[in-house]
Amino acid sequence: MEITENAKNIREAFEAAGQGQVFKFFTELDSAAQKALLAQAATIDLAELTRLVQTLVLNQHEGSLNLDELNPAPFIPLPENGGDPALWDTARDVGAQAIASGRVAAFTVAGGQGTRLGYDGPKGTYPVTPVSKKTLFQVFAEKIARSSERFGAPIHWFILTSEINNAATLEAFKAANYFGLPEEQVHFIVQGLVPAVDLEGKILLSDKGTIAMTPDGHGGSLRALVRSGAVDTMRSLGIDTLSYFQVDNPIVQCMDPAFIGFHVQGKSQLSSKMVPKAYALEKVGHFCLQGDRNIVVEYSDMPKNLQEEKALDGKLRFLAGSVAIHIFDLDFIAHAGGDNIDFALPFHRANKKIPYINSNGETIQPEDTNGVKFEMFVFDALPLAKHPVIIEADRIEDFSPVKNAEGVDSPQSSADDQVRMFTSWLRAAGVVIETDASGLPPFSFEISPRFAADRLDFLSQWAALEPKHNLGPNVIIA
Ligand code: UD1
Repeated sequence: MEITENAKNIREAFEAAGQGQVFKFFTELDSAAQKALLAQAATIDLAELTRLVQTLVLNQHEGSLNLDELNPAPFIPLPENGGDPALWDTARDVGAQAIASGRVAAFTVAGGQGTRLGYDGPKGTYPVTPVSKKTLFQVFAEKIARSSERFGAPIHWFILTSEINNAATLEAFKAANYFGLPEEQVHFIVQGLVPAVDLEGKILLSDKGTIAMTPDGHGGSLRALVRSGAVDTMRSLGIDTLSYFQVDNPIVQCMDPAFIGFHVQGKSQLSSKMVPKAYALEKVGHFCLQGDRNIVVEYSDMPKNLQEEKALDGKLRFLAGSVAIHIFDLDFIAHAGGDNIDFALPFHRANKKIPYINSNGETIQPEDTNGVKFEMFVFDALPLAKHPVIIEADRIEDFSPVKNAEGVDSPQSSADDQVRMFTSWLRAAGVVIETDASGLPPFSFEISPRFAADRLDFLSQWAALEPKHNLGPNVIIA
């Protein structure tokens, strides 16, 4: 009786919101499928969806981006590019202390669908290292384990998944025995889903008993951390700082003491790494200053003339590319991921080809854009943050993502960049290695993240290593 009453309420709410079509095939479903559809429908925040449809689908201009008076955002340059080396040394010490005191956790966003790579499993299970073909998850786990050993403190790792890949991700971690990390230090959070709608704002069905839903974007990670109770867990563990990175980037420094130090010293709520863009139209977000607020303008929103504009020194004026690497203050996450709508991240609209069931109950695989999905972007938290800090990162030490099957940002380009990075570490240690003009030697080799998590770590580990490895094809320094 109670279930029937509840079902009636859910269906009436959808009718009232103009979304009654969701139940068009309800009577054709068996009772298990009816229950499943009702349960799925009950997870949808209809008030939020109605607002998104009004602002982003039916009345697009309301949601459009304000790009007035953009200036380049200031950042702290690397010592080799004019930064003060003493400041970097101090920041590194402060960050090392923070990690050693157990305040800092790692946070990976891995809830995306990874469609561009054309890989079926969770992206974190994709093999990326040049010789041993370790997966992205294994690389991060080993960097975290090495940092924990180096700074003498447990480091908890929080991983954002979505309904689409959560079960497969858990499976992969169990099968790999948590890649050697203590199981109780690895935490999974499932992000929310939002219904996909057609171009009139009507919710689409992916089959007669299932609503088409997609993850709410990496910006959804903030509210997922709050809603899942992860923020409370972190507080109880004495964690107040989160090192945030995307699952697609194997060379990221998961625990960078200098970055963490600048964040702590700056009393920043949200800090970010920039790299100088490799070329004007590189597909990265741009760090900009608008009034007194830092914002990130995505490449797709940034007018081409601004992307290409040169400063007086001949460099790109909007040089600072976002590599999606941040440090978050936990109280800030609690605030930005909480229920205060005035402090919430905005949603963006993405037009997509979304397979759906038409009103005759036939499955349609559209050839053109037929629908809209809604996503939040984590960098929209930047203008909400107090004392934001942006530091420069060396691309070769921090950024070579795996996004596309071939070409730019592909498994091949990332594997090559890993070898270039290892080569530059060895050269810094005085080892002679022949390379081409791009820094690539004629053979592949690997330095295990378990041996060294970053360049400075490598230099001290290598100095202490006896006997040293002879370098050659497929050598793994571990
Ligand atoms: C992103 C950034 C871009 C940045 C670039 C650096 C956006 C919109 N743009 O581009 O500014 O310069 O990375 O590499 O983010 N994810 C989730 N849940 C979701 C959606 C995504 O966890 O609902 C995760 C993915 O698993 C992935 C990351 O977010 O780790 C990036 O998502 P993706 O959509 O691939 O962003 P890009 O367009 O590559």
